[in-house]
Amino acid sequence: MFETLKAQPADKILTLMQMYKDDPRATKVDLGVGVYKDATGLTPVMRAVKAAEHQLWETQNSKVYTGLAGDPAFADAMIALILDDAVPRNTIAAAATPGGTGAVRQAFEMIQMARPEARVFVSDPTWPNHLSILKYLGIEAVPYRYFDDETRGVDFDGLIADLKTAKKGDVVLLHGCCHNPTGANLNASEWDAVIKVLLETGATPMIDIAYQGFGDGLEEDAAATRKVVAAVPECLIAASCSKNFGIYRERTGLLLAIAADASAHDLNQATLAFLNRQNFSFPPDHGARIVTMILDDDALRSDWMAELEDVRTAMLGLRTQLAGELQRLSGSDRFGFLAQHRGMFSRLGTTPEKVEELRSKHGIYMIGDSRMNIAGLNSETVPILAKAILDVGI
Ligand code: LMR
Repeated sequence: MFETLKAQPADKILTLMQMYKDDPRATKVDLGVGVYKDATGLTPVMRAVKAAEHQLWETQNSKVYTGLAGDPAFADAMIALILDDAVPRNTIAAAATPGGTGAVRQAFEMIQMARPEARVFVSDPTWPNHLSILKYLGIEAVPYRYFDDETRGVDFDGLIADLKTAKKGDVVLLHGCCHNPTGANLNASEWDAVIKVLLETGATPMIDIAYQGFGDGLEEDAAATRKVVAAVPECLIAASCSKNFGIYRERTGLLLAIAADASAHDLNQATLAFLNRQNFSFPPDHGARIVTMILDDDALRSDWMAELEDVRTAMLGLRTQLAGELQRLSGSDRFGFLAQHRGMFSRLGTTPEKVEELRSKHGIYMIGDSRMNIAGLNSETVPILAKAILDVGI
């Protein structure tokens, strides 16, 4: 029966990962998939994660199922981390999911259950898997302008004009911080303007927050999300622990559905649990438990925060070094945007042909839309990349 299957379009991030693996050159540089790497190229297990795993190994005496929505302690700890007290707790329904992608998928399904005709507005560009999942579910994706190719910043006027065309019953997908794939982010007053448009149109925001702590700091990176939820009646939030806890393969994420008032909470909560049951039943627990143990323990939490801050400042240092090196070699300030961008990624803003040339000639791997993972660099590869960028005529 399976001869009727059609090959599906390849995911460009995963395809690039494989191409990098297959490249025999010792000098190759991987700026593809979004994983943090330290100066030696390792994606380390964070100290607090190791310590919590050790403790768990010693104390856990059962692996019996938790709840369909995961352990409520995980939701409580993550809600406090992301939202602080921006909205009353009794308006927030929460479910643990397999990674941030699981949360995104469940959010789209919840939207579809509520409003089969809903359209989801997505930034142009956005994380390719947003588009892929929407297409798979048969939900219409409406791109809104986001990236200005000239300034390599946000095309704010374009964004506002496009968001104004959303209607009640539509969803606007926003990146809470550290925009993927561009690295260009809205400032505080621009977020205010987005909130104003959301209130005017009645469209429902959905926030994907996968990089909290990688941009300007844990609190700073959550500020926009907190502002949005406090202002609008309803909101969905898909959160990931993959990056900020470095537990990629443990698949640890959380979906929040925030209601206008407590009366809608129970139905939202039941819907999240139902969706989990249909798709995978109980969510994975190991990563969620580790995260909860870290967030609920003063010593583990401060060690985690300190290490996360080191990761963040290391990435900022690489940004400054790369922008500086390009400035020195080119004698121009045109790469200054690299130091302004935040998070793991920056979109260089060049053609797929130049990206291909960087790969074939210099063994530098970035996504075809010229997204590069800044964390894939180190102080030795920064000058190599800077030279290569200018060599191919970017
Ligand atoms: C990325 O954008 O590279 C990460 O979110 C990893 C992934 O799953 O695509």
